[in-house]
Amino acid sequence: MSTSAHTAHQSILIVDFGSQVTQLIARRVREAGVYCEIAPYSQAEAAFARLRPRGIILSGSPASVCDADSPRAPQALFDSGLPILGICYGQQVMSAQLGGVVEATHIGGEGGEFGRAFLTVTRDCALFDGLWQVGERHQVWMSHGDKVTRFAPGFAIVATSDGAPFAVIADEERRYYGTQFHPEVVHTPDGARLIANFVHKVCGITGDWSMAGYRASKIADIRAQVGDGRVICGLSGGVDSSVAAILIHEAIGDQLTCVFVDHGLLRMHEREQVEQLFRDHYNIPLIVVDASDRFLAGLAGVTDPEAKRKFIGGEFINVFDEQARAIGGADFLAQGTLYPDVIESVSFTGGPSVTIKSHHNVGGLPARMRMALVEPLRELFKDEVRALGRELGLNDQFVGRHPFPGPGLAIRIPGEVTREKCDILRKADAIYLDEIRQAGLYDAIWQAFAVLLPVKTVGVMGDARTYDHVCALRAVTSVDGMTADIYPFDAAFLSRVATRIINEVPGINRVVYDYTSKPPGTIEWE
Ligand code: XMP
Repeated sequence: MSTSAHTAHQSILIVDFGSQVTQLIARRVREAGVYCEIAPYSQAEAAFARLRPRGIILSGSPASVCDADSPRAPQALFDSGLPILGICYGQQVMSAQLGGVVEATHIGGEGGEFGRAFLTVTRDCALFDGLWQVGERHQVWMSHGDKVTRFAPGFAIVATSDGAPFAVIADEERRYYGTQFHPEVVHTPDGARLIANFVHKVCGITGDWSMAGYRASKIADIRAQVGDGRVICGLSGGVDSSVAAILIHEAIGDQLTCVFVDHGLLRMHEREQVEQLFRDHYNIPLIVVDASDRFLAGLAGVTDPEAKRKFIGGEFINVFDEQARAIGGADFLAQGTLYPDVIESVSFTGGPSVTIKSHHNVGGLPARMRMALVEPLRELFKDEVRALGRELGLNDQFVGRHPFPGPGLAIRIPGEVTREKCDILRKADAIYLDEIRQAGLYDAIWQAFAVLLPVKTVGVMGDARTYDHVCALRAVTSVDGMTADIYPFDAAFLSRVATRIINEVPGINRVVYDYTSKPPGTIEWE
């Protein structure tokens, strides 16, 4: 990972023990204007040496400190004399490593707490500064089976709850703090401010992490990395690859060439929008390849979702490779890789996870192309990429666009994909999104799209019988696409969209709404 730009920052190291919500700790630290990185506990010592942080946060974990092989924090962190905040397992492991006692309680058994809890502040401490007073009760979010039963020498209890007498412990002299609850989740209403207190007041970091600063430092990094080499960037029309391309162009100008592959599976006017943005607005060299014939020909007769995905991914790389050769090759490949893809999560489940879908992006690196990677967004979360996009002059409408999968409409047309079906779906999808925008709901929804079902049903329009496709509408809310809830449109809205689609899109005579959350469903239908 390129860190040259960030080692100059005052930063925080987050040691990951495998909690589901470790990334949220990083979000909260960055929201406090402070750069941070997450390192798995097994690599924390190396990350510590490289990053030279001003403070350390130990994450939660599905593991139990009481189990023989449970993970520990490197001793070097305790020897560093830096402030440490231990969260849940982090509190327990710190206690255990510094001479306290942690005991296991079983789920549902005495002492475990799951969900909302209330604690009472018993002493002042730097974490609570300007926030919580002695005697007050505050809502927090707990999720623990084990608990500290005797704290390590030097610590004192500063807040307590019914299930966790040691809800917050502190050793103010060494600047060690431990919370049994999770301050990083939104169900701990003051959690973000507690974390801000840790990084600002305890660690003494002022907070110099801003998108303007990131932009400037990344431009310097890109120039240093690329020199006078040539960079090629595959654009998908999505936010990530677009922001990466614009940033790189700002750094190296016309040494960058962008390639946009129109596979015929795009949304309405998507190709024109990308052309307009890149060529007309930013003046970035752009090659647009109309490859729809070969993609649609290759998809003829293919109905299996994985076969569709694999074909599209492979063909994408073929087209991209041809274009790279046509411009005489390039030394670097630019990708919009984000931080969540880079973080090496700690897995306690063991073994490879099941492949639900073979995801592919423009970024799926063609190994034979042997280009070095330029990935200027590797340290950013999605909302930070959006902020950087705004910083680079992209408008809100563009940076706020819903995600769109690499295989495009092909995975929204169960069964065989044809040009005719794509045309029908594009129209229905455009009407649906238009109504969502008009209702002012676009930004409240993570992703909304129409699906064209391989089912025909009978209808009646005027006096005539119709026999046409069913269109399903999908809209979900989500934080990261990993889990999702359906968006609860009101009936009037849905009926307005259904009426418009049936009236305006020949080929569709019935509209249904998908009420499936994720899990058990996935967001896309294939
Ligand atoms: P699923 O359907 O797996 O989707 O619940 C989760 C999120 O990922 C997007 N998605 C993809 N994005 N290439 C992508 O770039 C893909 O192959 C792909 N498949 C799904 C999906 O749109 C949703 O936002």
